Amino acid sequence: MSRRVQVVIVGSGPAGLLLGQRLHAAGIEALILERRSRDYVLGRIRAGVLEQGTVGQLEAVGVDARMHAEGLVHGGVNLAFQRRLHRIDLADLTGGKTVMVYGQTEVTRDLMDARAAAGAETVYEAQEVQPHAFDTARPYVTYKKDGRTHRIDCDAIAGCDGYHGVCRKSVPQKALRTYERVYPFGWLGLLADVPPASEELIYANSARGFALCSMRSPRRSRYYVQCSLDDKVEAWSDAAFWDELRRRIPPEAAERVTTGPSIEKSIAPLRSFVAEPLRFGRLFLCGDAGHIVPPTGAKGLNLAASDVHYLYEALRAFFLERSEAGLDSYSERALKRVWKAERFSWWFTSMMHRFPEDGPFGQKIQEAELDYLVESRAASTALAENYVGLPY
Ligand code: APR
Ligand code: PHB
Repeated sequence: MSRRVQVVIVGSGPAGLLLGQRLHAAGIEALILERRSRDYVLGRIRAGVLEQGTVGQLEAVGVDARMHAEGLVHGGVNLAFQRRLHRIDLADLTGGKTVMVYGQTEVTRDLMDARAAAGAETVYEAQEVQPHAFDTARPYVTYKKDGRTHRIDCDAIAGCDGYHGVCRKSVPQKALRTYERVYPFGWLGLLADVPPASEELIYANSARGFALCSMRSPRRSRYYVQCSLDDKVEAWSDAAFWDELRRRIPPEAAERVTTGPSIEKSIAPLRSFVAEPLRFGRLFLCGDAGHIVPPTGAKGLNLAASDVHYLYEALRAFFLERSEAGLDSYSERALKRVWKAERFSWWFTSMMHRFPEDGPFGQKIQEAELDYLVESRAASTALAENYVGLPY
């Protein structure tokens, strides 16, 4: 069974959904093929600190109402070290820029609902999705569902299928250059329906390891502690987690922590990863399919959004103006911003976590960097402008 659309998008995460919404608004027909069910995708717990560029794209496609109603606008973020809190005034240092705290799950839900309301099609539980002939002007994608093999002919394929997806793996390995750094620790995360310990996020560097105090709403908190890659989530009781968290943050914050039963608890590894280039003929990698950042800088979702910005502009010019200039420049434009976010995320991770192999000298360098950061307006400005998001 075969049919034709202009763009096939592989993956119904933030990248695929946002690209689909932007293309739909421009009258370009895109079909999303998603391996999992809708509910499975919505069940993922992910960071939710949105840069203004991400907010702007959701506004551009009219999927911003709930975000503005329920999201939390933050003008500052806190660094904690040597048992003290230091507020970085993001708005003051960036000429008024802020971040929007609104869970990725909610962004995904809003985009899914908008796509369904617009009558745009997503095939969920599409199995064995496979891009073909993307080195020609007549690419196509096959997949299996309900016991049948389907073929979708198209003009372009957007690989929005994440780090473990099929699209990057379908590129001849000799055509791909990859860059990677795997960090020697993980993040143990806990979600609980308790009020946050702080109105703004707290990133803590302590002798016992990194900790992060975040939130989803005034009633739902998200916390993380750095843990060993050998740790098992089953070995961490809620009580042990709360105790360790309070040991890693300053007393003035620890005494404000409200404990409660976890509704989700998991361990995630940290890596930096970039694949180059992001374009192979009519196949374009977008979001986590092309790059991964450690969550310290909260850049994963925001890089997916900036890739979508560049890829949407390229596809719009191709379909509406018959110009391939955007397709030709997509990879270079997207990677220029990706690498700046990779650098920031690596730097912030290196500064805030315990690296036992770096020894006492490494610890003293971290302390000096943190002291300089909070004492120098120039250094704080550099952190602030990266945290709120560099321009597209
Ligand atoms: N066929 C179809 N769909 C697939 C396949 C496949 N072979 N492989 C993966 N997928 C789907 C996944 O089920 C997922 O829903 O592609 C989607 C990819 O979504 P994400 O992994 O969320 O990636 P992206 O949309 O780029 O968003 C990046 O999501 O994972 C977080 O931390 C990450 O915040 C970042 C954001
Ligand atoms: C989160 O709220 O899950 C979160 C916030 C900021 C980060 C990482 C995760 O840097």
